[in-house]
Parts: sequence; C-alpha cells; structure tokens
Amino acid sequence: MTTNRKVVLAARPEGLPTLDCFGTEEEQLGEPAEGQALVEVQHISIDAWISTTLGARDGHHGSVPIGGTLPALGVGRVIRSAAPELAAGDEVFGPMGSQSHLLAPAAMFQKLDVSQIPARSHLGVLGLTTGMTAYVGMITVGGLRDTDTVVVSAAAGATGSVASEIGRIGGAKVIGIAGGPDKVRYLEDELGIAAGIDYKNEDIGARLNELAPDGVNLFFDNVGGTILDTVLDRIAPQARVVICGAISQYGHMNDIAGPKLYLRLAERNATMRGFTVDYWSDAHAQAREDLSRWLKEDKFHIREHVVEGIERFPEALLMLFSGHIGKLMVAP
Ligand SMILES: NC(=O)c1ccc[n+]([C@@H]2O[C@H](COP(=O)([O-])OP(=O)(O)OC[C@H]3O[C@@H](n4cnc5c(N)ncnc54)[C@H](OP(=O)(O)O)[C@@H]3O)[C@@H](O)[C@H]2O)c1
Repeated sequence: MTTNRKVVLAARPEGLPTLDCFGTEEEQLGEPAEGQALVEVQHISIDAWISTTLGARDGHHGSVPIGGTLPALGVGRVIRSAAPELAAGDEVFGPMGSQSHLLAPAAMFQKLDVSQIPARSHLGVLGLTTGMTAYVGMITVGGLRDTDTVVVSAAAGATGSVASEIGRIGGAKVIGIAGGPDKVRYLEDELGIAAGIDYKNEDIGARLNELAPDGVNLFFDNVGGTILDTVLDRIAPQARVVICGAISQYGHMNDIAGPKLYLRLAERNATMRGFTVDYWSDAHAQAREDLSRWLKEDKFHIREHVVEGIERFPEALLMLFSGHIGKLMVAP
C-alpha cells in the first residue's frame, strides 16, 4: 500500500479563497490494475485557473465538488506500472491533482524526455499553462513584431514572466506591470525588459505616457479591470490587445467588470482577442520547438519558487493573489 496525502476543498470561498477553505486527507492506494500506473508527484504547477474552479459556478475549467481533490497539472515519477507504455522510473507529465501520489490509467500521462531539459521545466517555460500560453498569446495570437512596444500585465508572475521574455527575445520594447518595487527590479534587472511599472505605488497611465509616447502596439493582459482600461486608453493605431486572463476578477466570477474604454478599439482600428492555449493546438509543436531552443540557449531568466510540502498547496495557491515572483510550484 502507498499512502497518498491530498488537499481537498472543505468550503467554497466567498470572494478570494482563504486557508480555511481547504483540508488535508490521507488515503491508501493499492497496486496498479492492468493499464494503470502508480505515480509519485514531484512538482505541481500552481496556476491561476485552479482558483476559478473553487466556486459552485461551472466555468471554463469546471467546479470542484466539496471534498474533492483540487485539479492541477504536474510532473512525477512512475513507481509501478501495469501498462506497456510506462515503466518504473519514467518521468511523466499529467493532471496530477493536489496530491502526493496517484493511481491512474497510464494513458493520462505523457512520458517526458529529461535528458536535456529537467521535468519541472515542463511546468514552467515549456508548461502548457505558462510558457506555451505565453508563446501562443504573444506570437500566434498577438503577432509579435520587433518594432512593437509591448505591455504585459501581471508581468512578474509565471505566464507574464515568459511573455515578457518572449517579447524581449523577439526584439520588442517590453514594459511590464507588476505589484511592488521588488517585482519591478526583477523585471528590469533579471528579465532584462525595458521597464517595469509598480501598479501598487505608481500611476500606470502617467508612466505609460512617458515610456510609450507613440502608444502600445501589443498588450498581453493577464489582469483585466482598471489596468485593461488604462492600457486601452493608450493603444497605438492598429494595436493588438490579447486577453490571456483577468485575475483581478477571479474573486467575483459572477460579476466581472468589463472594459469601459472598448471604443478605443474602433477609434484606433485595433483588435481585442481572447484565447485559450488548448484551442491553439496546431501551434503547440512550433511553440515547444522555439521555447526548448531558447531554454537550451539560456535565454530565459524566469525565477522558480518551489513551496515544499503538499499541505502547503493552499498557501501556495493564495500567493497568486498576494504576491510571488516567477513560476510557483509545490513539491509534495
Ligand atoms: N488563456 C489561457 O489559456 C491561460 C492559460 C494559463 C493562464 N492564463 C491566465 O494567465 C494569468 C496568469 O496566470 P498564472 O497562473 O501565470 O499566475 P501568476 O501570474 O503566476 O500569478 C498571478 C499574478 O497576478 C497578479 N495579481 C493578482 N491579483 C491581482 C490584481 N487584483 N491586480 C493586478 N494583478 C494581480 C499577482 O502579481 P502582482 O503581485 O504583480 O499583483 C500574481 O503574481 C491569469 O489571468 C490566468 O488566468 C490563461
């Protein structure tokens, strides 16, 4: 028998989640049946979308039942397998959930080649919900050009860090918006983008007027709300506004504030387009190839923040709203 420790939803949050919304449970897992594998989870990706599953509303990513294990992507190592495609010791990616171990059909997992790129990079720079999302948003949907002035919101988070770095690698002038002076230093000194704006202490509009006097050509928005309006007011003619997410709205999914200044799109012949990374599956192979090459060439400087212990999964999830830098993961 293998002991699985898992984090479950104890109560639905009212507004943003709090620690008392979660509980930890243990269960015993048996041996794999035919076609199954027993996997020890090594790193779990802490993603903003997980927080959208905590309410009763069945949104894009579904709704977790009370007592249910929270959904999460992760990487792990096969302990035992009763499926021909996986063997003990294989490293795999899959929908691990907020737990230390799982017994599941082998078909749920994707075997990883870790000879040159470590498994956890498949959650960060190569992660579907991080690097691949940033690539699809910036390049496939956003049509990044080296002449662009680009703005990225939640720029010091996971998706925002990779989006900012893709912009820099692509030769654009990148301005990142993030909360606090430490994050601005990270954006400018570590990621090497043109400038950071601290939305908690600075006037975003005034700073954008200085930094982007000819307007913003590409806006990669993770935040929504007032930040979206502030940038919409400063878009250049034929700008592209790409809606990746709206984390400022995730505490009240039934009452999302829409943009007030959307008429700037008409006035400036601009487009605003949302996307989900899974829809753009035709672009994934090219995205993986380019991201892997840039990773091997050491072009990424995104920080990784690993929280130790599965019981700290809720604490890590709340950090998405209170502040962390780079890619957040839990090591169970
Ligand atoms: N479209 C897709 O397919 C797709 C896929 C993956 C992710 N996403 C979206 O990408 C965004 C980033 O997700 P992630 O998982 O990479 O998380 P993340 O950026 O690592 O963490 C979220 C960040 O949001 C910022 N934030 C939180 N509340 C905020 C508020 N009220 N106003 C302004 N900033 C706020 C925080 O940074 P500060 O300290 O700077 O506030 C935090 O670092 C989310 O909107 C998510 O839904 C979309």
